[in-house]
Amino acid sequence: MDSFSIPDEYLGGVVASAERIQATVKRVAKEIFYGKDYLNQTPILLCLRDGAIPFHRDLTRALDDIGFSYESAWLKTHHIYEGTEGSGDVNIFPYEGPDLEGRLVVIVEDIIDTSETILRVCDFLDKRNVAHRNICTFLFKERPANIEWRKVGLNGYYHLPEVRHVGLFIEPLFVVGYGLDYNEFGRDGNEIRILTPEGQAWIEAQIRVGTTQ
Ligand code: IMP
Ligand code: MG
Repeated sequence: MDSFSIPDEYLGGVVASAERIQATVKRVAKEIFYGKDYLNQTPILLCLRDGAIPFHRDLTRALDDIGFSYESAWLKTHHIYEGTEGSGDVNIFPYEGPDLEGRLVVIVEDIIDTSETILRVCDFLDKRNVAHRNICTFLFKERPANIEWRKVGLNGYYHLPEVRHVGLFIEPLFVVGYGLDYNEFGRDGNEIRILTPEGQAWIEAQIRVGTTQ
């Protein structure tokens, strides 16, 4: 997976520092450890690649540290974005991993924005007859449509599935770092920062140069 850095001058405010990220991961790990859903269960922690790879890696390490048993699996998803807006077009790539039927699956996602990815992955899991699925997202963007979720404390509302674990709630801005990218730029950052419009333009220019060479 190619990933490219974004110069500091094109990044805006820090949404989560490296320290805050690690403290948040530890808190989510404890939520899982103490959650009654997981009593006498070995859940499958399904990482939605590529964005959630750092969160899944740190979460599983934190769970190892507190002695919690789980299995890991990975599923590549790609929500095609036009600039910083989701197109609604989500690709789910072929799954290779442990059999999911009858299992408790925890979807480990980097961010919920329009919710299209999560909805598609829930469909995917339902077709595989999982026993139960929980959603665990590092970031939850408080866009107006997602406020619907709040009405029932994220317990599911109309077509929206329940979101069981949320790391941080953030403003509906486009962010990069800690696995989050803009066209493969910025995944490598160890903190989560806002991508400025200048940064977006800079990345677009890099892509244009790359394709004309
Ligand atoms: P949704 O399908 O719109 O909910 O968005 C989920 C997917 O879009 C995530 O898996 C991310 O890969 C990507 N995404 C959404 N918002 C952002 C963002 O602010 N920065 C980077 N990626 C994002
Ligand atoms: Mg993603």
